[in-house]
Amino acid sequence: MPHAIISPSVLASDFGQLTAECKRMIKNGADWLHMDVMDGHFVPNITMGAPILTCVKKGVPDIFMDCHMMVAQPEKWVDDIAAAGGALYCFHLEATSDPLALIDVIHGKKMKAGVAISPDTPSSAITDQVANAADMLLVMTVYPGRGGQKFLDRCLPKVADLRARFPEKDIEVDGGVGPSTIDACAHAGSNVIVAGTAIFNAPDPEQVITLLKATVNTAQAHAAAQRAQQ
Ligand code: DX5
Ligand code: ZN
Repeated sequence: MPHAIISPSVLASDFGQLTAECKRMIKNGADWLHMDVMDGHFVPNITMGAPILTCVKKGVPDIFMDCHMMVAQPEKWVDDIAAAGGALYCFHLEATSDPLALIDVIHGKKMKAGVAISPDTPSSAITDQVANAADMLLVMTVYPGRGGQKFLDRCLPKVADLRARFPEKDIEVDGGVGPSTIDACAHAGSNVIVAGTAIFNAPDPEQVITLLKATVNTAQAHAAAQRAQQ
């Protein structure tokens, strides 16, 4: 049964204090830290790249960096992100023509491989072969590019479809996720939860992380019990 993994998105953090912000989240119960890498091509914005991740890893050696690569040429950055200490390299399906080869390259660099789909990409674009090779599937619940956007609940049927196809896979949701949308995400079957503004801007981030985690674990236990009955 997939368990809850909470991955606060540092896009909502104070970038001037990035290392301290990551430590603060881990202290508050974060499992992973979600690092949004944007290149100004795949999305209009530019955020951070391998040099910054290297510094974060140096300051927080135990960190699990869940690297969300919103980049036009994901093949190009695998070596640099691996050298920076990235633990998971999640690329966009829309940005590559050979996802299987890319997954192999990522695994060759001892990172987990994630495959992301934007809101307009159907879940059927993730073939069984690609999903089986990947360690994680990411269903975007906003258009990639910036934090603080409104959750798109029309993306949730894709989560439900992927969960039905892959009962044990890590399935991540990202964008507009927080206490008011977690029930729907957990019910659809996601277990890896990215939240930026909902966690970083909360007066008590620990309380939010605990709530997100408990909601997911309850839904997963319920789904596992239902599967056992069938
Ligand atoms: C959007 C990013 C998200 C974003 C989420 O392009 O991929 O990770 O930071 O931020 P919130 O949770 O504020 O929507
Ligand atoms: Zn992201």
